[in-house]
This record gives sequence, structure tokens and C-alpha cells, in this order.
Amino acid sequence: MASTVLSAPFPSAVDLRGRSPMIGVPKNGGDHLLLKGKGFGRVRMSVAVNLSRFEGVTMAPPDPILGVSEAFKADTNELKLNLGVGAYRTEELQPYVLNVVKKAEKLMLERGENKEYLPIEGLAAFNKVTAELLLGADNPVIKQGKVATVQGLSGTGSLRLAAAFIQRYFPEAKALISSPTWGNHKNIFNDARVPWSEYRYYDPRTVGLDFEGMIADIKAAPDGSFVVLHGCAHNPTGIDPTPEQWEKIADVVQEKNHIPFFDVAYQGFASGSLDTDAFSVRLFVERGLELLVAQSYSKNLGLYAERIGAVNFVCSASDVTDRVKSQLKRLARPMYSNPPVHGARIVANVVGDPTLFDEWKQEMEQMAGRIKHVRQRLYDSLSQKDKSGKDWSFILKQIGMFSFTGLNKAQSDNMTNKWHVYMTKDGRISLAGLSLSKCEYLADAIIDSFHNVS
Ligand SMILES: Cc1ncc(COP(=O)(O)O)c(C=O)c1O
Repeated sequence: MASTVLSAPFPSAVDLRGRSPMIGVPKNGGDHLLLKGKGFGRVRMSVAVNLSRFEGVTMAPPDPILGVSEAFKADTNELKLNLGVGAYRTEELQPYVLNVVKKAEKLMLERGENKEYLPIEGLAAFNKVTAELLLGADNPVIKQGKVATVQGLSGTGSLRLAAAFIQRYFPEAKALISSPTWGNHKNIFNDARVPWSEYRYYDPRTVGLDFEGMIADIKAAPDGSFVVLHGCAHNPTGIDPTPEQWEKIADVVQEKNHIPFFDVAYQGFASGSLDTDAFSVRLFVERGLELLVAQSYSKNLGLYAERIGAVNFVCSASDVTDRVKSQLKRLARPMYSNPPVHGARIVANVVGDPTLFDEWKQEMEQMAGRIKHVRQRLYDSLSQKDKSGKDWSFILKQIGMFSFTGLNKAQSDNMTNKWHVYMTKDGRISLAGLSLSKCEYLADAIIDSFHNVS
């Protein structure tokens, strides 16, 4: 067992073999050199006092998104603004628990629900409503049993489970991700050992979509690639294809026999409408394509820490669907056994109850509305204050929680070091973490960083 640990892909294991374990090891044979079997135990005994077995473990870099929040916490300046993490805040910049969530939790408490394990695939009531919310309750693929839905550990865990499936069943296939994309996509595919490459998405000259580049790169990819598409509110750019462009993307995906892999982390949060934001996925389903969708309820129901989401495979036949689902369960079992129940019950109660569902839609519209309002105010402030004639209208064309400012790394550093505005180094700001009253300050910071830092 010990030798298995050391053969794991940690640099420490390699380092330890080469040097440190020799220190203080009695010259009693070759066991300690190989660090195998019982010999490993003896080495451990003799070096444990002075040298950690984890000596060779290097410090991991801070996460580019979550690390921003840590730096923000350490800043004592009262003007500081955290626009790093994509989490909704009230106008007072406080975290927000939706009223419908509180109501659902109250109901759950009154019913005295238990904490028994869920099945590997999750809560049945949740799986049913989540597929219906995504595809539309009347979608024929649901009626025909062509959707395999497995509850996941929010968007990230759902993506990771699907990536594990790709690695197991399509070991030759590649994932195609947009450039840029949400930072964790690369980590997910790397850890799942799914090779990936990027397709062009963002055009810095227009601060808009590089549609031609996107189409060309999807066309040039090997047939049968998994094309990762942000269903709505592309992160980090906030730039979405138009409905006509989605049609063309579907054309080329179909032509190349690719498998679309949608990441839907913002349904309802982009436009304020659940149906509008599901347009892209439903379009591909209507065309009869088989596809994968990872869903998250972190943003639209504010259930960040509940880790609730799902992975859906839309297949061309119901017997395939059953087999796919059985394999997803097989992958999930040794990873986390079965998912948590609390968030799943909240979603099932909110989406499954017509009154709560309507209330949710209204609350979501309000949240999306507040972000749109802030977006407009930021644009107004920038346009009024910046006398250079620069066109800031790209901000209004973007959608969802984020705005991609076009600021480069040095300029983003200036935002943080001089203005105490915390944001990711790719120039992304979360408008969900901004209040109307802070827009002028933010505009000053952006104008200074844009014009005075190269
Ligand atoms: C594009 C995208 N996908 C997936 C996620 C997953 O988030 P979570 O794991 O919190 O559901 C996020 C969150 O920021 C995201 O922006």
C-alpha cells in the first residue's frame, strides 16, 4: 500500500526517492532505497522526527477566482470592492438568501424530512424538475425517456462527472473550450485527463464575439470532439451568440459530428427569463442532436454552498439513456457515493410548486434587473467621465453577472493596488457585487487604469 502512495503523481514522491529518505536511515539493506513494502515503513519510522513525508509537496498557486476573495478580506481600506467572485449581492452589498428558498426550507422543516442517504443518482423529484426546467416540461425527449439526469455537486461536480464519463468512454476525444473561458474548465478537463484545446471566442478589437474564428476553429477540430458551450451569459466575457449565430454553431457542430457539451450555470440570470436563457440548449435538442448539459443552481437560486446541480445526457434512444445513466452512477459511486439532499429538496420544492415557482421567477427577474441597472449606471458614469471619446457601449452589449472590461493584467493590477477594486486578472468584473452608489468610483478606477497604465 505504501508504495502505491509513493508512485502517485506527486513530485514529492519522486523527490523523496531521490534524496531525503537517506538521511538518518540505518544501513540495513536496500528496502529504504526503493521505499517499497515493509521497507517503506522502516524509512518512515526513522525520518519522521525531522522530515515530513510531504516534504516535496510544493505550494499550489492561489485559485485565480477564489484567491481574489481572500486578498479582499485582508484589505482594510474602506473603499474596497470585491468584484472577483460571481456571487449576487444586494444594493447594500450583502449576500442574499432568496425568499422562496426560505419558504421551501420552512416547509421542509415542518415536514420533518429525514437525512437518509439519497440514491447514487440523487433525489428523483429533483432530477425530474431540473430536466424539465432546462428542456421545457413538454419536450418530447423527456416524454420519450431520452434524458439521463444525475444530480451533481453543483455545476463543477456535474462537469467533472461528465468529464470522467468522456475520459472513460471516449478516451480518444478532445474537449473544445472557448478562449477565454471560466477558469475551472481547464482544471476539470486536466484532472479528468481529457485533452482539450481552445476555440476563438473573444475579439479584443471589438470587445465582442469572434464569430468567424469560433466557427473556423470548431470546424477545424477533429470530428467527434466535445464542444463546451456556455448555454447563456458566457463567463468571463458576458458575450453570447445571437439566436442566428447559435443556428450556425449548431450547423457546424452537426456537420462535424461533434457532441455539444453545454455548461448552464446562469439559467434565468442572464435575461431574467428561464426559457429565454435555455434557448441555445433547446435549439440543439430540437435538431435531434445528442448532447450533455451541466446545470448549476448556485446563482439562479443563490444556493452556492449547497452544491446542487445536475448532469443531463440527451440520447437518441431510451435504452442508450438507461445505459448511460447506469455508467454515470458507476462513476459517481467511488467519487462521492451519493449527493447531498438539502439543496435538491429546495429545488424540488421551488420548481415543483406552482406558487413558489412563480415567486422564484419574480425574484430572479429582480436580481437580473438589479444587475442590468448597475450595468447601465456604470456605462453612464464611464461615458460621462471619460473625455477621451472612447466607446464604452460594449458594456451594455454584454449579458449576465459579469462584464469583461478589456483591461489587461497590469491595468487590473492597478485596479486592485491603487483603487482597492478586487477582480480577476483577465479584466473581468462581477456586476452582481456592485451597487449603484459605487459605480462612479468604479468608473474613475477603470478610466485611470485604462488610460494611465499600459
Ligand atoms: C461557466 C460556469 N460554469 C460552472 C460554474 C459552476 O459553479 P458551481 O460549481 O458553483 O455551480 C460557474 C460558476 O461560476 C460558471 O461560471
